[in-house]
Amino acid sequence: MHDLQGKELEARRKEVFKQMKENSIAIFFSGVSKVSSEDEYLPFCVNKNFFYLTNIEQEHSALMMIKAIGEKSTYLFVDPYDELKEKWTGKRISFESAGLISDVKNVYSTENFETMVKLALTDDNNHYGQIDCVYLDLSSPEQKLKDNFFMNDFAMKLKVDHPNKEIVDIYPSLRDLRMIKSPLEVQNITKAIEATNSGISYVLRHLKSGMAEHVFADYFEMYGRLHDRTKLAFSTIVAAGKNATCLHYPTQNDVTKDSDLVLFDLGYRHKQYCADISRTFPISGKFVGLQAKVYEAVLTTNKAVIKYAKPGLLLKDLQDFAIETLKNECLRLGLMTEDDDIRNYYYHGVSHHLGLDTHDVAVKDRPLQSGNVITVEPGLYFAKFGIGVRIEDNVLITEDGAMNLSKNIVKEMDEIERLMASRNV
Ligand code: GLY
Ligand code: MN
Ligand code: MN
Repeated sequence: MHDLQGKELEARRKEVFKQMKENSIAIFFSGVSKVSSEDEYLPFCVNKNFFYLTNIEQEHSALMMIKAIGEKSTYLFVDPYDELKEKWTGKRISFESAGLISDVKNVYSTENFETMVKLALTDDNNHYGQIDCVYLDLSSPEQKLKDNFFMNDFAMKLKVDHPNKEIVDIYPSLRDLRMIKSPLEVQNITKAIEATNSGISYVLRHLKSGMAEHVFADYFEMYGRLHDRTKLAFSTIVAAGKNATCLHYPTQNDVTKDSDLVLFDLGYRHKQYCADISRTFPISGKFVGLQAKVYEAVLTTNKAVIKYAKPGLLLKDLQDFAIETLKNECLRLGLMTEDDDIRNYYYHGVSHHLGLDTHDVAVKDRPLQSGNVITVEPGLYFAKFGIGVRIEDNVLITEDGAMNLSKNIVKEMDEIERLMASRNV
């Protein structure tokens, strides 16, 4: 069994059962790989709600939960052993290990899936009596992808085959559960952050001018692959000088200069849980002139927002507070005048939830609660100075305020300069 304890999976499924009406069934799919071109597929990305309830990462799998006749039954479906398929694309999970990983006792072949659904939804002579309601994970953002192991098609087919059944979207229940992280989930996020910290240190040791931006992203990604084959949480952003004023700067082909600040926005995954970290470093090893002022304004705001965050506040409150702090800092440091608008230099949100998805599922206008994990990522982007700075940490909301899970990742100017002085370049 993976580290994720069976007890926790059991508790998550118990919560889902609690949300289900009597005489109902819930179905989740892991999804399938997306086609990228003729006979080629993108790397498989498991549906996170399915993963949350099963800990299974294999494509073309399904989970069925039935609440009827006073009982709660759970069934997992994975593909059967296929000798030829294994010869082409490697080992697939056995029924036995699927049971151990998911802590589901009833594991069946996907070949039985449709029959089992039909059986459960047939009103006569059915072990489960009459099922009135089918819960499907319908509004999960992943459902926008057409080939996600037929969740949308499945819903349509159900409507035709069983017009008397009510179909209900169970996504809101999963979203609400996932917003509150358990200690085990926080531990996984923390491990992703620690690995990201090591990746950043590795990049820092090799940071020097004259190299294209993407080389630093390559270093980060290679380090991850060499250590535990860590996967990325999202596409790595490396942007030097003025390029850092484009938030999702895509090309990364410019050659870096000694006078550049380089903005990194990156993160690995650990057991599917994401880190999302931004740091900004001077290629020369020293913050000079306006670079130091802009960095100071962002760093002060980053720390102030972390101190301010606590249960009961909205993400919008954090954003308003960040804007106010950035504005005051820019005025204090002479980076702008009273006539200027801070929104010309800061044009994104300061926080989002973080978890199995980098921009994790959330109700954006729900007050923060203990157990939320969010980012704190103020930035300032002065195209006219050729400077973009973002400093992004990942924090756990507790009754006592925000606990910075990424506090070990270097961000003080003097610490960065000290570290960079010891580079092997
Ligand atoms: N890496 C994307 C973000 O910070 O939201
Ligand atoms: Mn980020
Ligand atoms: Mn972020």
